[in-house]
Parts: sequence; C-alpha cells; structure tokens
Amino acid sequence: MIYLDYNATTPLCESGREAMLPYLYEHFGNASSVHAAGREARSAIDDARDELAAFLDAKPHELIFTASGTEANNLAVLGLARASAARGRHLICSATEHHAVLHSFEYLAKNGFDVTWLRVDRNGIADLDQLAAAIRNDTTLVSVMSANNETGVLQPLAEVSSICRAHGVLLHSDMVQSFGKTNADLSLVDAASFAAHKFYGPKGAGFLYLRSGIPIEPILFGGAHENQRRPGTENVAAIAGMAAAAEWMMEKRGLEQKREATLRDQLWDSITAVAPDAQLNGSAEHRLANTLNVSFSGVSSETMLMALDLEGVCASSGSACMVGSVVASHVLLAMGFSRERASSAIRFSLGRQTTAEEIESAAAAIARVLTRVRRSQPQPVYAAG
Ligand SMILES: Cc1ncc(COP(=O)(O)O)c(C=O)c1O
Repeated sequence: MIYLDYNATTPLCESGREAMLPYLYEHFGNASSVHAAGREARSAIDDARDELAAFLDAKPHELIFTASGTEANNLAVLGLARASAARGRHLICSATEHHAVLHSFEYLAKNGFDVTWLRVDRNGIADLDQLAAAIRNDTTLVSVMSANNETGVLQPLAEVSSICRAHGVLLHSDMVQSFGKTNADLSLVDAASFAAHKFYGPKGAGFLYLRSGIPIEPILFGGAHENQRRPGTENVAAIAGMAAAAEWMMEKRGLEQKREATLRDQLWDSITAVAPDAQLNGSAEHRLANTLNVSFSGVSSETMLMALDLEGVCASSGSACMVGSVVASHVLLAMGFSRERASSAIRFSLGRQTTAEEIESAAAAIARVLTRVRRSQPQPVYAAG
C-alpha cells in the first residue's frame, strides 16, 4: 500500500505511542480526583499543556484541550461569536474553510447572526480588499484558515491579522493542517485550532489556543474542566501522546519540508509527463510542502480514487462521493473552477514515511489508471449540489 493521504490523517509516531501507554494502564486515574491516582493524571496533563504552549510560544492556560480539531473549531466560532454578541452580530468567514468551521458559521447565520463569506481568487487566496471593506461596526469575528486541507494553499495571515487588528475584530484561524509544517505564529491571531492526528499524534485529541483575557462561551455543559471552558473528563493518554507527537513533529521540521516538497514536485512532473492536460489546483507558490491537488479532466474523482485504490495507492478528493454521482468540492468551486474540474480533483498528500520509491510507483500507477480509465470510462454524472 502506498499511503498518500497524510492530510486526512497520519500514523501515530513511536514517541507518541510510548507517551500514551502508561496512561492507558497503570496511571488510569481521573485528573479531577484528589487522590494520588488523580494527581498523576493531572500532572501528565499539566506537563503536556506546558510543552505544547512552549512549542507555540503561548501561555499554558491559553490552551483548551478538546476531543478533536472539529470541536476546537466549533468552540472557537460558536463560543467567540456568542460571547461577543452584545457588541455585534456580524461575522466573516472565508469560503474555503473546512466544514467544521463553515458549518458552524452556517449554523450561526440561521440563528440570529449575519455572515459575510470571504471570496478567494483562482489561487485559493482570500480577497483582502473584500475583507477590509466587509468589516462593519458590528463585526466581531473573522475566521481564515492558515493552510487549506484540500489544496494546501497558505493564506496571508499576517495581512489578514493587521486588517482585523486595525478594526478591533477577533481573528480565529484553523491551523489544523499547518502545525509542524509552517510556522504557527500565534501572535497574529486571537484563537487557533489544532488536531493531534494531523501531526502524528492520536485521533480524538485537539486543542484551541485562546489568547488570555478573551471571553468565550462554552458549547458543552458539565464540570469545571479546562478553566470552565470545556467540560468532560480529559483523555489523559491522548493528551500525553499529542504533546510527544508535537515534539517529534518539530524535530527536523525544515529538512523534512524540503524533502516532501521535492517528492511532491517529482510526482507532479511524472503526472504532467503522462497527462499534459492535468491541472494543478491552488497556488503553486503559497502551498504546504506536502500537498498536491490535481484535476484529471474527464475522469471523476470517484472513478480515479477507486482505480488508484485497486492499484494500492491511497489518495483522496475533497468532494463528497455518493453512489453514481460526484458532489464537487466547495473549495475548488469557491476558487472559480467549473463543476467538472472541481469534481475531478484528486489530493495527494505526502508525509514522513513517504519514500522516493513510493512516489515512483505511485506515478506509474497513476499512468496505468489514466490510460485504462480514459479508454473505458462512461461520462460521469455530476450532481447539482
Ligand atoms: C483544516 C482542518 N480543520 C479541521 C479538521 C477537523 O479535525 P478533526 O478530524 O480532528 O475533527 C480537519 C480534518 O480533516 C482539517 O483538515
């Protein structure tokens, strides 16, 4: 199997696994308990919080542990919008956000808030002029992700941040895809979301960075955990594993990014050699080193993914596939691409375990699949949604 879907999830690194094991067995206490077993668990959580905060140049109490990147995004969007509602009910969200952010804003739009959707250009980059013009007296929150999960496109967060700061508007950024791949500069934002399984940590663990002093309303109700901001018994093992994985991810970060970018570009060169009509989706320049999003014209994402799977290559599409039809990626549609192009996109995302041999084999598999599929494929049916 050749795994080229690291933006979907990554395997747990060895040090992450080691860090988790003691808290699954002998140190199983509840971190809220006052006895020795509880104190052990509490101290593991405190250590993890200190380590993660140090990597990010944040203060430990600015991190709120959650059970996923989705939850961190939901907490940021709903929690910040509601806590600022007395000041205003206008919000701005970029059109290419992950559904965990997009759907949170859509929910607010149906519940008394006014949302402006921020356009992106054909490279996938947010329209800064529109942002500056859209901010009103009652705008309280802007959300712009640092790196897109489908295309890898990096947003100009420094510019977005200075516009927000100039108008006194809070800025949240979904940094789930960029942690350990770019510099997560928290000085630019007021809140940022992270997920452990995107950086070789366990699934089911994430956190929200929230700058000191910014009020947030909880979205879950229960105990007083996480400074009354996120109730629920902490997943101690996952939190310990997440901190260890973050450390591992930070090591050799620069070299690894160069290596992955070289392999990614080799894959692109091999693809264009056999499919000169292949189209690169997203800015080639402002992009994560590990991500390649390509449209193969006339071949639906679903057909291509299934054929690649049979060849042992795991890739992905941003679009939701349903039986007999393809729903085009909202990210690619927002970039102004046709439904046909948006429904024939494949995302290859590389990671620490990707080798040059794998890239060569994947390229050969893509060539075989394209020849076969283009010879035999009936025209795909594109859904209206
Ligand atoms: C950019 C981005 N945000 C949020 C998420 C959701 O994270 P999780 O899978 O931990 O819920 C993902 C996962 O695909 C993502 O890529």
